[in-house]
Amino acid sequence: NVPIAELLTRPAILIGRSETARNPAIPLPCDLYQPQRLNSRGIEFGDRAALAELLGEIETARRPLPTIAAATPAQVGAAITAARGGFESWSLTPVDHRAAILERAGDLLEQRRAAFVALLQDEGGKTLDDCVAEVREAIDYCRYYASEGRQLFGEPLALPGPTGERNTLGLRGRGVFVAISPWNFPLAIFLGQVTAALIAGNAVVAKPAEQTPVIADLAVRLLHEAGVPRTALHLVQGDGSIGATLVEQPDVAGVVFTGSTEVARTINRTLAAKDGPIVPLIAETGGINAMIVDATALPEQVADDVIASAFRSAGQRCSALRLLCVQADVADRVIAMIAGAARELRIGDPRDPATHVGPVIDAEAKARLDAHIAAMTRAARLHFAGTAPASGNFVAPHVFELSRASQLTEEVFGPILHVVRYKATQFDNLLGDIAGTGYALTLGVQSRIDDTIARVIARLPTGNIYVNRNIVGAVVGVQPFGGSGLSGTGPKAGGPHYLPRFALEQMVSINT
Ligand code: SER
Repeated sequence: NVPIAELLTRPAILIGRSETARNPAIPLPCDLYQPQRLNSRGIEFGDRAALAELLGEIETARRPLPTIAAATPAQVGAAITAARGGFESWSLTPVDHRAAILERAGDLLEQRRAAFVALLQDEGGKTLDDCVAEVREAIDYCRYYASEGRQLFGEPLALPGPTGERNTLGLRGRGVFVAISPWNFPLAIFLGQVTAALIAGNAVVAKPAEQTPVIADLAVRLLHEAGVPRTALHLVQGDGSIGATLVEQPDVAGVVFTGSTEVARTINRTLAAKDGPIVPLIAETGGINAMIVDATALPEQVADDVIASAFRSAGQRCSALRLLCVQADVADRVIAMIAGAARELRIGDPRDPATHVGPVIDAEAKARLDAHIAAMTRAARLHFAGTAPASGNFVAPHVFELSRASQLTEEVFGPILHVVRYKATQFDNLLGDIAGTGYALTLGVQSRIDDTIARVIARLPTGNIYVNRNIVGAVVGVQPFGGSGLSGTGPKAGGPHYLPRFALEQMVSINT
């Protein structure tokens, strides 16, 4: 009998090399949390016995989904008031103690990963490899922010000064942080937001997406069990109206939000219209993410990376590829290879480990995507349409060719890839079109020409640029994640500059 922790960390279920292990800044225990590199096949479960055992553990942990009641507006107000009280003692708790609690939370997640995988499948509709990757990411956030927090929030930074004067710069919590998180990473992004705010010394009121309340409920119970005081962390469940009520509360000191650009704007407007202190917003929204493929790119690699970036996770990642820009000379070959690889994808039950593409989150999402496919079928050239099960919220992968990049005007959050061809002489126009979307989250470049890569990086302010690889699956502490413009306010989750955005800076100058 192999324990679950060992099963999930065996090289047999990992792809690629360990980046965390090579990075000394990351306190993850050597090989335990090697990030996997997604390729078109996802994580490979090479050891059949290990896979069988893993599936057994997950089935044992599976429970019927309970019903979760939405909060009332009065409960929202009460949560903020209670958090305000909790902030006083939590912010004075030594950071070593706060960090130890987050590390304990990481350990508990590791012990209970089978339960979280089952829940991510049942409530989030995610495939097995996506679930395993998400639990890993959540653990990484706990451990990474604990380690970063110890360095940032311990002793204040000593600054220079003349003899007889001692100057220091410290960081401290702001107060009550509101954390509003999405359904597509209901564990990792939820815990990433909450743990970042907590380690910085804030109290938190968290509002998860209404589609995934049970995962958030279990995650908050786990944080309380790990030692986060109940007064310092509160969960309010409900739809967007509860989120709006939360942001309107007078005692909110900061908001961290991941979701749509439209909702980020609404939150910004609400915060701006309030009397009292100026409240910062940390927002990570979406993207019309592009990949540029020139004639020197390796077509097999491009096909593999496009499948992983556009179709895995049913395209429901904010980092996912939406617009593939291929140099005309190689376009036919590259598109044919992508269509061939897409034909191999299995779409269906996310609990089946052979499934590559699970359902989209709900019927509303499916209807929106189906309408987009219908519109594209009229306006663009169809290169590939997969086959999805007839019942359930499934959307099959599609590849459409557009005549111009500007035909794609909004983020399409599903497994639909849009392709444009460009001539080498139009390269600058292409970069202008990508910049012109206003989004700047992820970008891929597939080229063997250093100068081309450098031109793209210099021209575009995109937050995460990936060269000759896929553009999804940012690893905590290795590929800090977040974008600017229509894609967000800029802070990068899982990076060394993230935590100070949750804190106040305080300079003290002492005449000794
Ligand atoms: N952080 C995720 C990724 O990199 C997207 O939300 O894919």
